[in-house]
Amino acid sequence: MSESKPLALITGASSGIGAAFARALAARGYNLALVARREERLHHFADLLGRQFAIHCTALRADLTRQEDLRGVEEFLAAAGNLQLLVNNAGFGTLDPFNGGPVESHDAMHRLHVLATLRLTHAALRNFSTRNEGAIINVSSVAAFIPNPRGTSYYATKAWMNCFTEGLYLELKNAGSKVRVQALCPGFTMTEFHDVLGTGRGFISSKWWMTAEDVVGASLRGLERGKLFVVPGLRYKLLVAFARLMPRRALHFALSKGPAGLRRERTRLHKPDSV
Ligand SMILES: NC(=O)c1ccc[n+]([C@@H]2O[C@H](COP(=O)([O-])OP(=O)(O)OC[C@H]3O[C@@H](n4cnc5c(N)ncnc54)[C@H](OP(=O)(O)O)[C@@H]3O)[C@@H](O)[C@H]2O)c1
Repeated sequence: MSESKPLALITGASSGIGAAFARALAARGYNLALVARREERLHHFADLLGRQFAIHCTALRADLTRQEDLRGVEEFLAAAGNLQLLVNNAGFGTLDPFNGGPVESHDAMHRLHVLATLRLTHAALRNFSTRNEGAIINVSSVAAFIPNPRGTSYYATKAWMNCFTEGLYLELKNAGSKVRVQALCPGFTMTEFHDVLGTGRGFISSKWWMTAEDVVGASLRGLERGKLFVVPGLRYKLLVAFARLMPRRALHFALSKGPAGLRRERTRLHKPDSV
């Protein structure tokens, strides 16, 4: 096992897209540091990858919504030898409405998607600056392009991730830095995300589901080509292009009182017992 191999740190590596990144990078000869809360699962996965690919694979248990855990991962990143890649991937969804729902899930989502991404990116950049090389992938979502009345904080935090990554891209470019950054914006992906969310997958046609391996493949190809935004899959590229071209007012109409919403509204208004 060689310490001179490049090192990648991946958050949310105990399942889904993060685990797919771990497998893909291990196959490319990276040493890995895997971060998540489920310790036993993470250790088991790290041991497996270490043996299978003859790499050094470290499991770091951390709840990234907690300051002290986040600080531990920051310190690891800042001091890690031969760090080449950070993947800010840990994330979750919530069905709690913002208006009238509990604030805790929204607070935790902002700490994980926004603050953890911000702090870990800063720590990785300090490490990269001595060698003027390295890369950061922020796992955002197509949700960043489309406001969602049923996912206010999810939409807002993923839109933040895109803006943050784009701002950093320009900052690094203007400074002549060779460090690359990417906002990866997947659509529906078959992982544990919707099990944790509690929706299952039946609500949307199977045509829209991608595998985590396809998403990661698109991301790593995009990184080689220096792409800032990576939207895996033709369907989602078209959806994002359409959402970007659509006037905001039309988008708002479609998302609040579009044809289905209007039909529901009409039914409600014509029901005498609906009040
Ligand atoms: N699946 C989709 O349809 C989809 C679409 C677009 C974007 N995404 C994004 O893709 C990313 C990965 O999600 P996924 O689809 O792979 O879902 P997943 O299978 O549920 O994986 C989420 C990962 O995040 C970790 N995590 C959650 N909360 C954490 C916390 N507080 N501290 C540390 N780690 C935490 C989980 O590990 P532990 O539970 O062990 O901590 C798990 O490893 C997320 O950012 C998500 O928003 C997913």
